Amino acid sequence: MQQTQPWPDQALASARTVDERPAASRHDNPAQYWQEGVCTATAHANIALVKYWGKKDAALRLPTADSVSMTVDGLYTTTRVRILPRGGEFSFSLDGMEIKGGAADRVHRYVDRLQRRFGLSGPVAVESANHVPTSAGLASSSSAFAALALAFAGAYNLDVDRRELSRMARLGSGSACRSVFGGFARWFAGHDDSSSYAVPIDEHPDIDLRLVVVEVNTGPKPIGSTEAMERVVRTSPYYGRWVEQTMRDNEEMLSAIADADFSHIGRLAQQNALDMHALNLTARPGFTYFQAGTLKAMRIVRDLNAEGVECYFTIDAGANVKILTRTATTQLVRARFAQEMPQATVATFGFGPAAHLGGGEEL
Ligand code: DP6
Repeated sequence: MQQTQPWPDQALASARTVDERPAASRHDNPAQYWQEGVCTATAHANIALVKYWGKKDAALRLPTADSVSMTVDGLYTTTRVRILPRGGEFSFSLDGMEIKGGAADRVHRYVDRLQRRFGLSGPVAVESANHVPTSAGLASSSSAFAALALAFAGAYNLDVDRRELSRMARLGSGSACRSVFGGFARWFAGHDDSSSYAVPIDEHPDIDLRLVVVEVNTGPKPIGSTEAMERVVRTSPYYGRWVEQTMRDNEEMLSAIADADFSHIGRLAQQNALDMHALNLTARPGFTYFQAGTLKAMRIVRDLNAEGVECYFTIDAGANVKILTRTATTQLVRARFAQEMPQATVATFGFGPAAHLGGGEEL
């Protein structure tokens, strides 16, 4: 795994701490990525093994249940926050392109909110780059808002620890609070802003687990995750059952991770994903993220298991299928997908590191 220094758990005392600490481990010249009022940070996407699917407080992004995720190595966002002089104007660029409207407004509102939280104001420029091995279908709000929260904290030299950072990331996108940590992380639902945050379960897991992502997505999602979960919470007669089951799944997942039990982790992640997608059908009106390719990929996973190649799938708010495999079977799984779904793009990931300062030489 890539060796990086995460933002330290203890509160940071001064800008010098931010300046000096990662320099020792990653860069000869810390000014490359940190200087007064400018900070660059990198965060990796995470994939939930027990899903967050519903809020009890939309404004604070408080989930109805805990969730558990793995942070992945090859999928990450690097973001630079630059505090501008008075009179400057907010701007947001993604992969070198100036963005206006939609995504830029969300980033702007988020930055405003963080500024209010810390009694700050004034214009900033946000530059981001998404690192995805294949297409944009894999870009993730979890890495985006975790990187932005950390770059913001660095640019303003805020005295925040990783718990606080996780709470800040949560306000941008719920799942982002888990991307503050590497390896496995757990998000405690909590009951208010200060009690809802993620914690690391094991940032350097010693478990043979790979994630093979099959991109079957061919078009835009029928409904974004924020709106989808809002509808499900409000209208599904089964929502309460989902929450009860998910809370049990969390406990079981923690013990499966503690046992480094691949089969148990995989079985449980697959069932939890199936429960979430079944729930979507019970919303009023019902909907699904599954496309023909999603069902085909699920069938291939079942066939592989029947042939003795143990693997499990999980699916998020989209048509792509993520398959949990062991190292020894990864090539077999990929070969089967190449044969049966030659049009699908396939990428393999391992565990990713915690959010950290730096990165973004290309920004
Ligand atoms: C299916 O974190 O994107 O990936 O908080 O509304 O921004 P918002 O939602 P988001 O939802 C992620 C949903 C999921 C499950 C998960 O990551 O736990």
